[in-house]
This record gives sequence, structure tokens and C-alpha cells, in this order.
Amino acid sequence: MKKPNILFIGAGRMAEAIFSGLKQSEHIGTVTISNRSDSERLAHLKRTYHVETAKWQDVVADQDVIILAMPPSSHPAVMKELSNFVTSQLVITVAAGIGPTLLEEAMPGIPVAWIMPNTAADVKESMSIFACGQYIKDEDRANLQVILDAIGESEELSEEQIHELTAVTGSAPAFVYQFAEALEQTAKSYGLSKEQATKLVVQMMYGSVAMLKDGRQASDLRDQVTTPGGATAEGLDVLQENNFNDILHEAVIAVNRKAKEQANN
Ligand SMILES: NC(=O)c1ccc[n+]([C@@H]2O[C@H](COP(=O)([O-])OP(=O)(O)OC[C@H]3O[C@@H](n4cnc5c(N)ncnc54)[C@H](OP(=O)(O)O)[C@@H]3O)[C@@H](O)[C@H]2O)c1
Repeated sequence: MKKPNILFIGAGRMAEAIFSGLKQSEHIGTVTISNRSDSERLAHLKRTYHVETAKWQDVVADQDVIILAMPPSSHPAVMKELSNFVTSQLVITVAAGIGPTLLEEAMPGIPVAWIMPNTAADVKESMSIFACGQYIKDEDRANLQVILDAIGESEELSEEQIHELTAVTGSAPAFVYQFAEALEQTAKSYGLSKEQATKLVVQMMYGSVAMLKDGRQASDLRDQVTTPGGATAEGLDVLQENNFNDILHEAVIAVNRKAKEQANN
């Protein structure tokens, strides 16, 4: 299979996370990056990652995959202009709220996909969810998977599910960091330094996640550390009395409510 040439329109944080991973892949051709105005950043990225830089309009014809890594607000104008250039290239966006329906409306008949990565793409540990448009071919799928694999794990969902589940994969990391910060504060209240508190909490969380990653069930792992009537059980009772699970559920619903409001404005 031909190694795909990949063009990024938008060369911000998310683009950097993706192409820094892609540059380690044997399965890709050239990587070209472009943005609106920041030529200093482009020059820095070119030196660091040995990518090409260009005005996207000049190179788009030679590309197999085009990744839109700009803010959602820049999409309408760029998609409109891009529709005059694309023939059969795969067009992917990573922007919140810009699903295959909007991409296909702007670029009829073009293979498209929507990826929602999360911030852990920075360390190649994203949990990315994605949806494909109706014109996507096997070769496009293979290229899409190379891009997804460059930043972590991925799961294909429907467009509607991505709107609903971005709260879990995209926003919930903020809930996890809130949890970490709260436990760090508690550890510090027992006299630990910031460094000691962080070390205790981060390794505790890392170890707990490693056990989950190993395929064990959260409920089994919880039961293993909880002797009925014991000290840990007392702590879990406090979480339950304060509706810990309901609070998380409500937080996800609140994210989705706000995202919908923003999409309609
Ligand atoms: N960061 C994350 O964790 C994350 C997670 C999921 C999804 N995303 C999505 O990824 C996209 C990019 O986010 P980011 O965090 O990488 O943002 P960012 O660091 O602010 O970068 C945005 C980039 O887009 C460029 N740009 C803006 N308008 C453009 C236009 N009309 N034509 C060409 N380039 C344009 C900017 O170039 P100039 O500087 O020249 O304006 C900049 O290089 C967003 O849609 C965001 O929703 C990000």
C-alpha cells in the first residue's frame, strides 16, 4: 500500500501531538504542516520534527490525508475553501462539534472522519473516539488507523455517541485531576511536602490504573481492598452516602448540556 502523504491545516498543540507520533511510524509518507500566520512556530516545528512546511493551498493536491487541526470556529471558512481543492483525499478533523455530517455537507462525496482525542495525546496515551463518513474506503480506514495509533488507543462510535461520550473521554480527565488534587491536599494536611504528596497520589493512581489496564474489573479490584466492616469500607460508605456515582453521572450530563448549548449558539 502507498505510504500516505499527510497535510495538517493548523499546527497547534493537538497537531504537534499527532505528527510527533506519526513521525515515528514507518507507514507514512511526507508530513506537511501549515497554519494561519505563525511562521516562527512553523520554523521551530520543522527543525524539531523534520516535517515540511507550506501554504496548504500550494500542496494540497499532493496529499492523501488532510487533517484539520484548527479551532472549530475556523472550520466553516477553511472547509469551504478546501472543497474547491479536494478530489478524493481523506479529510479528518479533530475539532469539537465538527462531525462527519458537517464535513460531508461542506465537501459532498469526499471521504471524511472525525477524531476526538484527549490531552493525553501529548504522551501518546489518548483515548480517542472517532466516527467515519459514508464515503470512506478501506485504504482511508487503514490511513486513519495509522493516525489514531500514533496518539494512543481508539474506538469507533457513531457520530451521536461521540457528541455524548466526549464528556467521558475528553472532559473526565479534568475530573481525574480534580480527584488527584483533592487527595494531594489531604496528604499535605498530614504534614507531607507538595513533592511527597504528589508522589504518593500519582503512583497510587498509576498503579490502580495499571491493574485496570491488565484487564481486571474495577468492582473486583475495589472488593479486594475492602474488607467488609473494615477501614476502607468506612471510607467507601462516605463516598456512597454522598452519592459519589450520581455526582459523576451528573457531571457528565452537565458537560453534555453545556456542549449542546455551545453548539446551538
Ligand atoms: N488540545 C487538546 O487537548 C484537544 C483535544 C481534542 C480536540 N482538540 C481540537 O484540536 C483543535 C486544535 O486545538 P489545539 O489545542 O491544537 O489549538 P491551538 O494550539 O490553539 O492551535 C490551533 C492552530 O490552528 C491554526 N489555525 C487557526 N485558524 C486557522 C485557519 N483559518 N487556517 C489555518 N490554520 C488555522 C492556528 O494557527 P495560528 O496560530 O497561525 O492562528 C494554530 O496553529 C481544536 O479544534 C480543538 O477542539 C484539541
